[in-house]
Amino acid sequence: MNTSTPPEIVVLSDLVAVAAVAAERLAEAAQGAIAERGRFTVALSGGSTPRALFELLAEPAWLDRLSWEQFHVYWVDERCVPPSDPQSNYGVAQDLLLSKVPIPAAQVYRMRGEDDPESAARAYEAIVRETLPASPDGWPRLDLILLGIGPDGHTASLFPGSPYLGERERAVVAPYVEKLRMSRVTLTPPVLNAGRAVIFLAAGADKAGPLKGVLEQPDGPPAELPARVVHPHPGTLTWLVDQAAAALRHEA
Ligand code: 6PG
Repeated sequence: MNTSTPPEIVVLSDLVAVAAVAAERLAEAAQGAIAERGRFTVALSGGSTPRALFELLAEPAWLDRLSWEQFHVYWVDERCVPPSDPQSNYGVAQDLLLSKVPIPAAQVYRMRGEDDPESAARAYEAIVRETLPASPDGWPRLDLILLGIGPDGHTASLFPGSPYLGERERAVVAPYVEKLRMSRVTLTPPVLNAGRAVIFLAAGADKAGPLKGVLEQPDGPPAELPARVVHPHPGTLTWLVDQAAAALRHEA
């Protein structure tokens, strides 16, 4: 039973609108973090949904508005492929956003998808533990974590039946995902729940089922819908979803 504050759910017309609100929320989080701590740490997810946000943030209006030099960028997860591979979460973010904004290269912390998965996970564990402050219960604490949700309810690279849904030791692991026939590197639930702010972006009718299941039965089995493991405390949880993804919810 999680005791965290219920999530904020914002239903928007479409993915463009989701990206616009996500950019505003990111700007708000960045401004607060930089004012209070002199830097902003954010972890990005992969997949297709964040592309709209990356493209928006690379536009001139945002280029001038954000203090990019104080940004520190991490990843929620990565496919075990080289950064040049079209599947690379880093590669997509680099192409659409990071190559267009003045974040110092030393402040971009890439998961090394080209390395042995377990080695890459161990290396990234060291990076997040060394470069991020610890939450009160000792987990690397990010200012903002951007998540997506798959049609099967996965988030990060925590898929249904994952052995890491209850992980309480490691911050980063390297699951082999049978259905994808590939390994991934991913942050674990305690790190996702240590975030000061966690925002899910979800768009499209194929997310309506898992969204309903996660939001209306949050205490159901995470093994069925792994996004259920995300309930940050004392951080905040927000869902920015389009109407198609919200279609099955009673209040939609
Ligand atoms: C990944 C992501 C993953 C993603 C969901 C949703 O590496 O694929 O981190 O967790 O957020 O699969 O993906 P879409 O945005 O493509 O629907």
